[in-house]
Amino acid sequence: MCGIIGYIGDRPACEVIVKGLKRLEYRGYDSAGIVTEDGGRLYIRKGAGRIDDLTEKLGFLEMPGKRGIGHTRWATHGIPNDINAHPQTDCTGRIALVHNGIIENYRELREELLRRGHHFDSDTDTEVIAHLIEEELKSSGSFEEAMRRALLRLKGSFALGIVYTGEPDRLYFVRNESPLVLGIGDGENFAASDVPAFLEYTNRVVFLDDREYAIITRNSWTVKSLDSGKIVEKTVQEVEWTLEMAEKAGYPHFMLKEIHEQPRAIRDAIHGNAGIIRSVAEEIAKYDRVFIVAMGTSYHAGLVAKYLFQRLAKKVPIVEDASEFRYEFEELVDGNTLVIAITQSGETADTLAAMKLARRKGAKVLAIVNVVGSMATRIADFTLYTHAGPEIGVAATKTYTTQLTVLTMLAIELARVLGTADQGYLDELEAELSAVPELVERALRHEASLRELAEELKDKRDFFYIGRGISVPTALEGALKLKEISYIHAEGLSAGELKHGPLALLEDGVPVVAIAPSGKTFDKIVSNIEESRARGAFIISIGDREELGRISDVFVQMPEMDELLTPIVYIVPLQILAYHLSVLRGNDPDKPRNLAKSVTVE
Ligand code: F6R
Repeated sequence: MCGIIGYIGDRPACEVIVKGLKRLEYRGYDSAGIVTEDGGRLYIRKGAGRIDDLTEKLGFLEMPGKRGIGHTRWATHGIPNDINAHPQTDCTGRIALVHNGIIENYRELREELLRRGHHFDSDTDTEVIAHLIEEELKSSGSFEEAMRRALLRLKGSFALGIVYTGEPDRLYFVRNESPLVLGIGDGENFAASDVPAFLEYTNRVVFLDDREYAIITRNSWTVKSLDSGKIVEKTVQEVEWTLEMAEKAGYPHFMLKEIHEQPRAIRDAIHGNAGIIRSVAEEIAKYDRVFIVAMGTSYHAGLVAKYLFQRLAKKVPIVEDASEFRYEFEELVDGNTLVIAITQSGETADTLAAMKLARRKGAKVLAIVNVVGSMATRIADFTLYTHAGPEIGVAATKTYTTQLTVLTMLAIELARVLGTADQGYLDELEAELSAVPELVERALRHEASLRELAEELKDKRDFFYIGRGISVPTALEGALKLKEISYIHAEGLSAGELKHGPLALLEDGVPVVAIAPSGKTFDKIVSNIEESRARGAFIISIGDREELGRISDVFVQMPEMDELLTPIVYIVPLQILAYHLSVLRGNDPDKPRNLAKSVTVE
């Protein structure tokens, strides 16, 4: 769960690296470090803290050299401190490397190396790799061979950037189960965990696959197989993301920018998938047993899909946390199973493991992914992209609504293929879906009043989010958004559950957010609002019926739409409310504590 950026060329390496690290900070931000090389000597500066502070404190921008590697860390082994920050080095100080991932067998390797006389400075699993290469170098003709031999002994996940003083003209980058991409420039080359890190300089990229490594020099790049050492032919791709898309575009935080980008993102999701949705639906139609696996917000998208598939296609998928699926459901998976994996990053460890398990058991795997070229897309048999563009804020917003858009398209198309719903109704629903970007624009207009509401509620300690039917996942997602960025305790639940326990927690002034669109269960949720009000709760209702205004302290009026489309639009005010509560409580909504954007460890 870390970010890596490497550079070799004619620019001062430190400048490219510091900019790259800032764009990768979303991947982890508890410590950072840089190594550059100049005149055969390595310069290393690193420490615990945020990039901006460290740049000033450690003088990152004064580091000499035109090749170097930077790292921003999210700790897995060893607490975040100066010594555990990367780069880590060997005993001779000639090898420095940075790492994203976890080395599962590092304890055994460390003991072996200790017996051979190595000493370790840090508590990290990463340092072992540097020493292992040093050890192999003693009996090997070339650094590359020593590196390869050492890496073949590692178990676990690793993306690595490696520099060696004995070879003044190159950098090494290795990928195994953690992302890494090369940026191809003119007389300069880059490598990073993610494209925005070097997008300012080039949009020509080469995605590394698992168990591949790259050697980059100023004017060349080569990719080889870690297992055989042989060259692997790769193609250079051009990414369409502009740097502006990857930056804040004038908003105070990425999250707010990304919330406001949703109309555009949803449009792109519709246009990007219109041509292929039919063939994917035809494939799904062949399977009786369908699992949906995902984590966090993506899991909530899966829960919405359960209602969509059930209502339109009369097919009920089993929706599971990928972390549960991989250990509990193995026996149900076979050649007659389809597994739909939803993951915006395409790198979530549990989701990838669930997908691999499904493939192993002969199931077909469909991935719904935002990040092009990510690991999930390589494991899957087929992929639908959400086309949301880069999402930098840790809290998922536009990637969620675009996941919902794609899933809605899929459910409509599946119902067409299976003939399970009235064709006229499906056509209408599809037309209404294409108008959802405007409905989201209208929902965004509530921002000023939601900010005022946040002022009023900023000192509350608990929130409850309730919904029924297809609004239950919206309640869960609204609560997740609030807790992860504002650190206020929040619970999302089906409104019917209130009476079975949670009602005991309601007292004067406790905010209850009711997601109450017109539909099958509108009257039922009105009763739940009344019963909460009777206990003194402060009611915020989100809905399209004016009568909600009479029974609520605050009523956020939504435009009318088919109930099946409400998850995409109704989450928007909840995202905005969470955002403003986070800011008003002095938090950084883009970088919530203890969390990272891609959870690449179990
Ligand atoms: C919450 C959030 C997380 C992710 C989860 C899965 O705002 O972003 O809950 O949804 O970590 O991530 P992906 O979709 O990348 O697999």
